[in-house]
Amino acid sequence: MKKKTVKDISSLRGKTIFLRVEFNVSLNNGKVTNDIRIIEALPTINYLLNRGAKLVLACHLGRPKGIVNPKYSLLPVAQRASELLKKPIHLVKNFWEEHALGEVKKWKKKEIILLENLRFHKGEESNDKRLAKHLSKMAEIYVNDAFGSTHRAHASIVGVPEYLPSFAGLLLDKEITIISSALENPKKPFVVVIGGAKTPEKIGVIEKLLDIGDTVLLGGAIANTFLAAWGFGMGRSLVDHEMVEMSRVLFWKSSRQHSALILPQDVVTSDSERKTKPKVVPYNEVNNDAVIYDIGPKTAQHYQEIMRSAKTIIWNGPMGLFEDPRFSAGTECILKTLTECKGATTIIGGGDTLSTIHEKDLLKNITHISTGGGATLEFLRFGTLPGIEVLQDA
Ligand code: 3PG
Repeated sequence: MKKKTVKDISSLRGKTIFLRVEFNVSLNNGKVTNDIRIIEALPTINYLLNRGAKLVLACHLGRPKGIVNPKYSLLPVAQRASELLKKPIHLVKNFWEEHALGEVKKWKKKEIILLENLRFHKGEESNDKRLAKHLSKMAEIYVNDAFGSTHRAHASIVGVPEYLPSFAGLLLDKEITIISSALENPKKPFVVVIGGAKTPEKIGVIEKLLDIGDTVLLGGAIANTFLAAWGFGMGRSLVDHEMVEMSRVLFWKSSRQHSALILPQDVVTSDSERKTKPKVVPYNEVNNDAVIYDIGPKTAQHYQEIMRSAKTIIWNGPMGLFEDPRFSAGTECILKTLTECKGATTIIGGGDTLSTIHEKDLLKNITHISTGGGATLEFLRFGTLPGIEVLQDA
């Protein structure tokens, strides 16, 4: 499973690299609000630049569905990346047109190139062979450092590597190495904390982690679905009814394997418009018209105690509606506890999990912050991703 990385490229001087990066970041008023993904890509970019390579960076932003839409332009991202790198970056607009090849050739002499949002062309998501071939003509070597997109079988992830020698970037390699070693050889007790919504995506991951973990702690909307599976009324809270049956299977599985699947014992509720005063209630006393917005204090304390004795912890997804300070206590407790577990291997994954972290100083105490959202989940579940499979074996 070990793949060749940029360190295996024998000579980089003068070579042009097509570098697929994960700059799918959140924007507000044309400004990047969370640049962790850009920062995490800097080691590979600098590694290649310092060895005399020329870079054609490529990335998507949001889901513009094959249509050019200024709302999804990578211009603000190019500006932030240029500030961080202290180097000019030239944005190539209609990268799918023939003339873009000439533009790339001209600009790469003095600047780093960034292609405009790859998803402005519908061939990116459909993995169109013509688009992949066209993109491959821009460079001599392909490098994937976009762990967060590596679960997508898109042209820039699996198509271009068909035409060029293909390597992993330093970030992709780091993600693969750290997450695989936590999965293959976890120090025990191994505790997994899963929250957020997206129950269908996460339920398969929980199933896999029940095989190797000791305890799975649930919060957020996914916990509602599991509580509903026991027959408790969840009021108007988010419940994925399609997943209720599967939740029951997981209870059965956890009982067979002696791994514990733990649900909130109390929750914080309000009405659907969040106008009534937040109220802490036991899990089995949620009013018919109430909505659950956070785990309750007893649950947070219980989860904290379990995490404190762990030697490996993986956390994916907030415990509630953390954007509203009245419902952020559960998520904050998980984050704080994680940063205090100094002797443990701690891994945070998932785009929504990353956005819960406002104090960047806290990140220093965490073993690994995965830049992937869906990619981290798929990697946890399957142990590989389509974009990893196409890279050269080490
Ligand atoms: C992500 O943010 O998880 C990746 O960039 C993938 O984005 P997507 O879910 O729109 O494919």
